Amino acid sequence: MTTKSLQSFVAITSLMAVSSAQPVHAQQQTAASPKAVAARPRDNDAWWKHALVYEVYPRSFGDSNGDGLGDLNGVTEHLDYLQQLGVDAIWLAPIYPSPQVDFGYDISDYEAVDPQYGTLADFDRLLQQAKKHDIRIILDMVLNHTSDRSAWFIESASSRTNPKADWYVWNDGISATSVGLTDFQKNDVHIGPKGQVVPPNNWTSLFGGSAWTWVPARQQFYYHKFYVAQPDLNWRNPDVEKAMFAVMRFWLDRGVSGFRLDVIPALFEDPQLRNEPESKNTLAGTYTWGLPEVHDVVKRLRTMTDSYPGQRVLIGELVEPTMDGLDLWYGGAAHNELQLPMDYFFGFPGLMTGSMLTGKDKLNAGFYRNQLVGMSTQLHGSRPLVFFDNHDNVRSIDRFGDGTHNAEIARVTAALLLTVPGTAQTYYGAEIGMVTTTPTRREDVRDPVGRTQWPQNKGRDGERTPMQWTPGPQAGFSTNPNTWLPIPPSAASTNAQTEQKQTDSLLNWYKALIALRRSSPAMRDGGVTIVDEKNANVLSFIRTAPAGAKPVLVVMNLTANTRTANIQLQDAGLKSSVPRTLLASPGSQTPTSLGSMSVPPYSVWIATIE
Ligand code: NOJ
Repeated sequence: MTTKSLQSFVAITSLMAVSSAQPVHAQQQTAASPKAVAARPRDNDAWWKHALVYEVYPRSFGDSNGDGLGDLNGVTEHLDYLQQLGVDAIWLAPIYPSPQVDFGYDISDYEAVDPQYGTLADFDRLLQQAKKHDIRIILDMVLNHTSDRSAWFIESASSRTNPKADWYVWNDGISATSVGLTDFQKNDVHIGPKGQVVPPNNWTSLFGGSAWTWVPARQQFYYHKFYVAQPDLNWRNPDVEKAMFAVMRFWLDRGVSGFRLDVIPALFEDPQLRNEPESKNTLAGTYTWGLPEVHDVVKRLRTMTDSYPGQRVLIGELVEPTMDGLDLWYGGAAHNELQLPMDYFFGFPGLMTGSMLTGKDKLNAGFYRNQLVGMSTQLHGSRPLVFFDNHDNVRSIDRFGDGTHNAEIARVTAALLLTVPGTAQTYYGAEIGMVTTTPTRREDVRDPVGRTQWPQNKGRDGERTPMQWTPGPQAGFSTNPNTWLPIPPSAASTNAQTEQKQTDSLLNWYKALIALRRSSPAMRDGGVTIVDEKNANVLSFIRTAPAGAKPVLVVMNLTANTRTANIQLQDAGLKSSVPRTLLASPGSQTPTSLGSMSVPPYSVWIATIE
């Protein structure tokens, strides 16, 4: 693995995709011509189809009790801000009791709140207050694995005969004298009931080393796709499904609006435990990822969540390079699986071509045209879910930034996120331009991946630093100078309070885009028609209007130079060509002619066609 390839969760994922999958463009070019007009989404009323989902990393959003660590009451305190921004739902990264080895993605009790974050009463208050702000709460749900400190695992690991003996993926291992063992198999020898054994196959853990760990009490190995402290549940055991569905009911009954399902494709493993080909021995392995059985579970889960009133939603974390692959997770034409599987590639176009390996990404007009057409024509009318940022990756302002135009580029990615047809998901701080602030010394790293793999991988702390609310002490995040991660120096100028007052700030740009997306029927419900479809530098499309409403033209220069766009509205079936500017990034002006319009570097212009 290269140094930067370990930079983030997705970067690791991308490694194998680079060598094994088809280039994303090739796949998507099989779609209809780039001019195709999208089908209108089915069921236009569902709230999540138009939503802006805002990911809150609870450790880092607001610290209400001065311990230096964010908490639930700290989220409640900032609901006014989120409402003014135009957020429809908060996705809360895990809040459950956890040893915090993977900061909550190692859950030890699924039906409680970690005391670090508050109490169940605090959670109920957050739900109630959020509702008053017209904001829904979506919980992260980790179904693939638990913490090794969960009562379930402790019991399972205690013997081969206990009631939960078969709740995790246990294996005797194979003889230490087998042929073709990998180095880590050879170095992991144990005495089992039948002599010396080693892990049953070559599967690796995403966070390093073998995916198998020996438990002397059972004289067996257990499987963990992630840390040793995150044993995989055995989804072939119906009791596991029963227990997990009960957990989800517990939260649905309390009033959550749905779940973001962590690594949902990883639930099942090959029953024969076949060795992975070396090129696939990572997150999205052939034998540990996307097995057909998982779709049956998701269908049953969907039936369960659909039985609740209020349009509960299932968001899925996946890494699908093709639209056809993505479509499977919706349930294709049946629409009976996830409502919103994540389209990772929209915000991470370099995932297939390796640019993620450098923590760098690039805007490309052709890529986005293909995405728009693919999203509109290859998903059976399902709603795409697009995003650029989350808690696992270098922030998009740094990934796409060229060092000179980062602020302008952040406006362009915001516009891409918020003007295309789809549900949008963002991550705290993106709206103010928070940058990735990676630790410079190993002793300061908190993410275990960064600590164990330093300096090749410095971990994910950089994108998890406290929210920058004010230019004051601790950026207004906490009264305690000892915050769990240091406040980035950028907080002095990049913070919500300062930006609220600056007309041209990134925050106000986000607000204007979000408001437009809500108020314009074309932006909310319209399809998309690509115009100027051969332009290598400028991406232009029309959000076609539902009956009686006006279409909206969006023009974005994705490069650092002034470019020309040639927009022929009659190609899109429009008779009128009189534009009225709705929103323009600083420096752009209403053009005198659409047929040959000059578009400033990294600018965005949005207009209705009157
Ligand atoms: C995906 C989460 O986003 C990441 O933060 C976590 O480390 C892994 N799943 C394991 O749960």
